[in-house]
Amino acid sequence: MTDSAKLQIGDKTYELPIMVGTENERAIDIGALRKLTGLTTLDPGFVNTGSCSSAITYINGEKGILRYRGYPIEQLAEKSSFIEVSYLLIYGELPNPEQLASWQDKITNHTLIHEDMKHFFQGFPRDAHPMAILSAMVAALSTFYQDSIDTDPECLDMSTIRVMAKLPTLAAFSYKKSIGQPLVYPSNELNYGGNFLRMMFAVPTFPFALDQELADVIDTLLILHADHEQNCSASTVRLVGSSRANLFAAISSGISALWGPLHGGANQAVLEMLGSIAKNGGDVNKFVALAKDPDSSFRLMGFGHRVYKNFDPRAKIIKRLCDNVLSKQKRVSDPMLEIAKRLEEVALADPYFVDRSLYPNVDFYSGIIYKALGIPTNMFTVLFAMGRLPGWISQYKEMLEDNSRIGRPRQVYTGKTARDYVPVSER
Ligand code: ACO
Repeated sequence: MTDSAKLQIGDKTYELPIMVGTENERAIDIGALRKLTGLTTLDPGFVNTGSCSSAITYINGEKGILRYRGYPIEQLAEKSSFIEVSYLLIYGELPNPEQLASWQDKITNHTLIHEDMKHFFQGFPRDAHPMAILSAMVAALSTFYQDSIDTDPECLDMSTIRVMAKLPTLAAFSYKKSIGQPLVYPSNELNYGGNFLRMMFAVPTFPFALDQELADVIDTLLILHADHEQNCSASTVRLVGSSRANLFAAISSGISALWGPLHGGANQAVLEMLGSIAKNGGDVNKFVALAKDPDSSFRLMGFGHRVYKNFDPRAKIIKRLCDNVLSKQKRVSDPMLEIAKRLEEVALADPYFVDRSLYPNVDFYSGIIYKALGIPTNMFTVLFAMGRLPGWISQYKEMLEDNSRIGRPRQVYTGKTARDYVPVSER
């Protein structure tokens, strides 16, 4: 017998089916609720609302589990590559050697952007945030590659390859623009992370030597960020895509959603917070007290997570990576990194944070590691976007394949009831 839930409203009882996922997650299916009862549900922030069923990523926030297509994040971070993980997320299975070579080849051969797109970069103010430029440029892809903006599988494959291949180019160009250096064209001999680092840091006046270990760290960070089921940006991508807007348009809005400091923008916010702690004499306790003060809206950036209430498995891996990078680069004496360590210690021992299960999240350590690697602060969230791209694509693709209805939440209206218009002269 299918499981069901009983809902009593007044003297009437309604039976609602319970859907059970492959990991035994149970959800009350309220699809027919309004039709049956005339009532909707209210759940601001979608704290209890499943917006879809999905076979891409499994998270268990209580146990600190994260798996892409069933594979534990720990194994993927250790053994796989970002390109392979992208294939896994988008197509559902790990590629065989031929599939991997072909996927790699396709992405490598589409790294250039249309030459005319380069002129767009000149139009942005020099101090524009690279996330703003990135979002605008990804939306602009739909003007340059109109042959792949339909939503049929063939077009979707083409625009998938294009956006995967071109995002690092657009990201690095937006950085070069912001510092006034000449744009560096992609090099198809390098891997995904290596090519990105070269486009970021090479200059025409000096030979560029790629640090492969650094490129490998970037690759691992991209894997850790590759998907996180129905988070704010993925839900945005799905919602925009549910109107059958093209992939570039949907990804562009995902980038905008990610930019916010409560989401991906937190990695930049972490560094800014550490900077202001340093400027204020380095007293970590003062800022911890401020974060606990009910009259203050200040929060410790990089702490807490909507889903992980025990630990963030990505943060565990990044912390290890971070310790390795810091000890290798002998940057442990960097005052900002010292403050980060003290902040972590103080917050982890404080009952306010412990009682609310507020642990350092992935953004806390990624901000620190990017800083140690010499990545400029305003590019941190851009790297997050590069990592999250295959996740967004797979969420968009799954939404289309499920033939999902247009996303259109309801509301409970709390405004004025009907009243007559008053001409301006009488107001
Ligand atoms: N510092 C201080 N207090 C906090 C913090 C924080 N970083 N995060 C949550 N709290 C407190 C809240 O004030 C609240 O306290 P209360 O119960 O006394 O009112 C309690 O913890 C629960 O917080 P909520 O806001 O209900 O938690 P929610 O799940 O809505 O928010 C979020 C999660 C947005 C991540 C929040 O913890 C936060 O703002 N953190 C800082 C920003 C950040 O690091 N974002 C990155 C998220 S990870 C990612 O996007 C990859």
